[in-house]
Amino acid sequence: MSACYEAWAAGVANDPALVSVINQLPAVKRQPNLVFSAARFHGAPVGEYPAFAAWLREHWDLVAATCLTHATQTNEPGRCAVLLPALAALAGPLALIEVGASAGLCLHPDRYSYRYRRGDGDGDGDGGERMLHPVDGPSPVVLECTVTGPVPLPERMPDIVWRAGIDLNPLDVRSEADVAWLEALIWPEHEDRRERLRAAVSVARQQPVEIVRGDLNREIAALVARAPAGATVVVFHTAVLAYLDETDRNRFAAQMAELPVRWLSNEGQSVVPGVLERLSRMPALAESIPPSAFILALDGEPIALAQPHGRSLHWLA
Ligand SMILES: C[S@@+](CC[C@H](N)C(=O)[O-])C[C@H]1O[C@@H](n2cnc3c(N)ncnc32)[C@H](O)[C@@H]1O
Repeated sequence: MSACYEAWAAGVANDPALVSVINQLPAVKRQPNLVFSAARFHGAPVGEYPAFAAWLREHWDLVAATCLTHATQTNEPGRCAVLLPALAALAGPLALIEVGASAGLCLHPDRYSYRYRRGDGDGDGDGGERMLHPVDGPSPVVLECTVTGPVPLPERMPDIVWRAGIDLNPLDVRSEADVAWLEALIWPEHEDRRERLRAAVSVARQQPVEIVRGDLNREIAALVARAPAGATVVVFHTAVLAYLDETDRNRFAAQMAELPVRWLSNEGQSVVPGVLERLSRMPALAESIPPSAFILALDGEPIALAQPHGRSLHWLA
């Protein structure tokens, strides 16, 4: 959570004059995260509500224009830390397709370094910490993740031979404006995430990945058909299916069952059809699931719980 955004949201809620200004936006654009990110994109001061409100009134036209042309599409490379053990356990070589890829920063899991820390006192004979680096040496991006349960921490990186993405509105890691927007989407207090984002952008810029513009349900079959023969095609997504209505979620799940792919999902609990029902058949665990936890599922079967930004991973027995 962001204490700053909480204070701003509470301030706006009690400020009818500013509410009527914000209400000039179409209903679909009246999202706190979008308006606050657009304001920070244009330099709004992070701090007390009165100073923010005064700034917003003065710069409203600029902020409104950005709200109309932009969307909330945070790209969090930290999520690779929860995807990696599942990817590394699949038979390679792998062809990765990310749907809802944003700028594609989660399409480079083998190009980041990882520090996995045991959170359950199981030292694993290595002081409770496991470092993993790309094959050509340490990355400027080090993803930290606390793990519990029998997580199969990889010894080496998965062999990824091909990668591509799909997004309604792909962001380009080579565009300064797109990267500035991605930075503005990160909550003010999360400076560690902004630093990680910049480092991940520098990695991704070395080998940019194609991201097809379009709807995931419409584009997925054609993209799967382009993957190289002999590779295991893995279609994955994190924090995406919440944007779809139920019909489209079901349609996507049906395509995953029909296409020759492995399907790795990392989403909020009630988002992927059937996953929560399968998880709730594990009663001992269902009691203690934090409401914000994502469920990592392979081919629709839950395999782990994940902190939404990839800071921790609990592998299911
Ligand atoms: C919250 S962002 C997550 C980005 C990335 N998966 C990550 O975890 O960092 C969600 C992304 O899904 C995309 N998206 C939403 N609905 C989509 C659809 N129907 N087809 C393709 N992309 C979609 C949005 O444009 C946005 O970039």
